[in-house]
Amino acid sequence: MNYLNGKHILVGVTGGIAAYKSAELVRQLRLSGAVVRVVMTTAAAEFITPLTLQALSGNPVHTDLLDTAAEAAMGHIELARWADALLVAPATADFIARVAEGRANDLLAAVCLACDAPLAIAPAMNRVMWKKPATGENLAKLQAGNVRVLGPAEGLQACGETGPGRMLEPEELVAGLSGMFQTGVLAGRQVLVTAGPTREAIDPVRYLSNRSSGRMGFAVATAAAEAGAAVTLISGPVSLATPAGVRRIDVESAADMYAAVMQAVTVADIFVSVAAVADYRPALVAPQKLKKESAESSLDLIRNPDILAAVAALPDAPFTAGFAAETEAVETNAQNKRLAKGVDMIAANRVGAGQGFDSKENALHVFWEAGEQVLPVTGKGKLARQLLDLIAEQFQNSCHQGKVIKFNAKDSA
Ligand code: PMT
Repeated sequence: MNYLNGKHILVGVTGGIAAYKSAELVRQLRLSGAVVRVVMTTAAAEFITPLTLQALSGNPVHTDLLDTAAEAAMGHIELARWADALLVAPATADFIARVAEGRANDLLAAVCLACDAPLAIAPAMNRVMWKKPATGENLAKLQAGNVRVLGPAEGLQACGETGPGRMLEPEELVAGLSGMFQTGVLAGRQVLVTAGPTREAIDPVRYLSNRSSGRMGFAVATAAAEAGAAVTLISGPVSLATPAGVRRIDVESAADMYAAVMQAVTVADIFVSVAAVADYRPALVAPQKLKKESAESSLDLIRNPDILAAVAALPDAPFTAGFAAETEAVETNAQNKRLAKGVDMIAANRVGAGQGFDSKENALHVFWEAGEQVLPVTGKGKLARQLLDLIAEQFQNSCHQGKVIKFNAKDSA
């Protein structure tokens, strides 16, 4: 399965003869649907021109840490934040040593140090350099820090010798990188996610709604599927494609969403409520289009059911994670919401002009009974994966603290 569609992939190119294969790597990543940016070292630019990689990636190539114009446009911190994953191919022995030491003495090394997204390297070097203990120690250090080492392959080398040290072929690197998104932390689990707004009818052509685009909820559903779960996504009206491998149920109103959730939740191990459900709906839905007969008009509203609270109150409730959309006192309000709704976890986001709703990036402050974590601003895809890791961790803890019997019962149902 291809997990690269829509992912932001930062390709790092260092100075080795295998740099010529980076052109094909970038081309194949784009064919997989990834959005690609390239960072090159000065030595890499001796082997392949930035212009080639710019044309193939469709984006400007970044080379210099001290280029003030480039830093102002998209500096090393923005590049690091932008990336869903970083792949350095080829990675020379010198570059591996610098990253293992935590150096930041050129743009690529600085991005690697500043990036909290998964990092993979594709070593490429002479077979003797590959076998040197120093190289082995540097690699072991990187692997201990969760850096994925892809390759190298064995075979004829550019120097005429034969042995290990050849960079993997581009298609092998693409497959290896795609596999990094498949974490398996929720393998065998059923995850139910709500997303998007609801629409509350006023008459046959008008409704009350909000600015939710569905992006955050769809990103959570995608991340849950990548984590190995069977995912059901219940979505309000949005214009987004269904994530690969996800079962989608479309609804319109809060009442529709409530009914769909209550039906699907019976087999869920985890419920993540990302939808911006309307709290109120018109008390009466006019059967015909309302006429503008008077200068002023008013609408009587009644409360909608609270779907998240209703799920959390079920005798056989799954692990429940809600969102809190707040414009002020974010942390206090979120904690109060977690307690009031009786949920296991709440992810608070500040919303307002350009924030939270209908934006591509977001930031979360996640609270659970025994802890909290800040997930700084980044793309909603990456943020959703970070949130899913926290949910998986707390879900496992709750299983160990006694809910395990309930989950086993569902497993065997
Ligand atoms: O869709 P996007 O454009 O990507 O925007 C994402 C988002 C801002 C909508 C998302 O990050 C978010 O904050 N979702 C929750 C929005 C919301 O309704 O928050 P709330 O604080 O009003 O509700 C708290 C929780 O209760 C939420 O988990 C909500 O899904 C749930 N709820 C609320 C009301 C209701 N009647 N039923 C519910 O289940």
